[in-house]
Amino acid sequence: MITARHLATAVLLAQGIAGSVIGRHQPTPEKDTCLETGTAVYLISNDSPNTIIALPIGEDGTLSAGTITPSGGNGSVSFAHKVGVPAAPDGLVSQSSITIAGQHLFAVNAGSNTVSMFTISSKDPLSLTPVGSPASVPGEFPNTVAASTKNSLACVGMSGAVAGISCAPFSAKTGLGRMDTLRGVALDQTTPPVGPTDTIAHAFFSEDESTLLTMVKGDPDTNKTGFVSMLPISQKASCRKGAPAVFAAAQKDMRSTPSGTGVLFGSQVIPGTDTVFASDASFGAVVLKVDLKAGKATTLSAQKIDGQSATCWSAFVPATNTVFVSDVSVPRLVEMSPKNASIISITELADTGASGFIDLKASGAFLYALAPGNGTVDPMILVLDISGGPATAKPIQMFDLKGMAGVNAQGMAIL
Ligand SMILES: *[C@@H]1O[C@H](CO)[C@@H](O)[C@H](O)[C@H]1NC(C)=O
Ligand SMILES: *[C@@H]1O[C@H](CO)[C@@H](O)[C@H](O)[C@H]1NC(C)=O
Ligand SMILES: *[C@@H]1O[C@H](CO)[C@@H](O)[C@H](O)[C@H]1NC(C)=O
Ligand SMILES: *[C@@H]1O[C@H](CO)[C@@H](O)[C@H](O)[C@H]1NC(C)=O
Repeated sequence: MITARHLATAVLLAQGIAGSVIGRHQPTPEKDTCLETGTAVYLISNDSPNTIIALPIGEDGTLSAGTITPSGGNGSVSFAHKVGVPAAPDGLVSQSSITIAGQHLFAVNAGSNTVSMFTISSKDPLSLTPVGSPASVPGEFPNTVAASTKNSLACVGMSGAVAGISCAPFSAKTGLGRMDTLRGVALDQTTPPVGPTDTIAHAFFSEDESTLLTMVKGDPDTNKTGFVSMLPISQKASCRKGAPAVFAAAQKDMRSTPSGTGVLFGSQVIPGTDTVFASDASFGAVVLKVDLKAGKATTLSAQKIDGQSATCWSAFVPATNTVFVSDVSVPRLVEMSPKNASIISITELADTGASGFIDLKASGAFLYALAPGNGTVDPMILVLDISGGPATAKPIQMFDLKGMAGVNAQGMAIL
């Protein structure tokens, strides 16, 4: 149960915790201007049973207590570097374990090999109603999900002993349909997999939703190369006259390894361009040119981040036209150029008590980053005010998830 206690633990950060930034400074806008905000933040506990945590976003961008909804499945936690050593934090070694398309929310249940679909009430964003039953995936350890409103299609990446990519149609009335044939990926993994390398990182759609892109991590320790998978979506011919259009993914995906990449991870489609910004856990981040027709990704720019441990998650911020990346073992956020991945600012966040950040997402003038804790330190969500433009990110709240989620918490989606 969520109680008023959680509201009290939503500690507003003292003025003292200023983001130390390098680069250009811009003045903060007048306090009386209305800043654009999202409606709610969603994440999964990734525990067993797995739950979906929905938190309302206030007018000032801050979070408060919300709802906890059972996902209908169990979470799971990968192993770190060797079988038997649980990896948490970052149990799913992925970005987008929960995603939103229109008024629908999708979440993976890595321990049950299923994906769940919910409708978000248009009146109350904290009210989630399951649509149909969770869909079984044709593989093990589903850890990333993408959904397309245009195609009414949800696609999942699986990183266990049976690994690959599969898609299913969905409808508002009946939920997820049958997942299609697995496009296998030879990870040679166990279930749960041994991460963080040699697993599927992130599935997402291109801006025009014509193609599913999936980042697959290599493993520099064994010289295994990762790749970018592209799976075209097209309209299926229907035998019935007047039947609604049905879209399906191609039988086979196209794969390419952009030069200089090793462990491609959380990725962001840069709107209005043919590029994708991708973090690379082995050194920093890259900007890739993506040819959807040819199914080929090539490296345009690569940027090393000094002092990084594993740069894994990324969030494109329309308001600043920059990308923020996080590292599970370094308590800071790095802001980078979507054009060439050059570093624009570094916000040091050790003062927040977090030891690192995983999933993150922006909405309007605010950025939300999950600090999963370590089992002793509770998971929290850091809220940053980014209304001042590039290189002005300011922490304004550490929202405590105590009693709602633990060290296995993952994912972030914003309505
Ligand atoms: C979740 O795990 C519990 C305990 O192992 C098990 O009893 C239950 O059947 C699982 N549920 C699903 C939906 O996989
Ligand atoms: C990986 O490649 C390097 C350079 O070619 C080589 O020295 C090393 O032995 C290889 N490692 C493995 C595990 O094959
Ligand atoms: C990256 O882009 C920025 C802004 O567009 C520019 O100032 C900078 O020189 C570029 N850096 C590199 C290494 O190309
Ligand atoms: C978690 O982090 C805190 C603060 O850094 C530390 O005191 C504690 O020992 C850590 N716990 C674990 C289980 O690593």
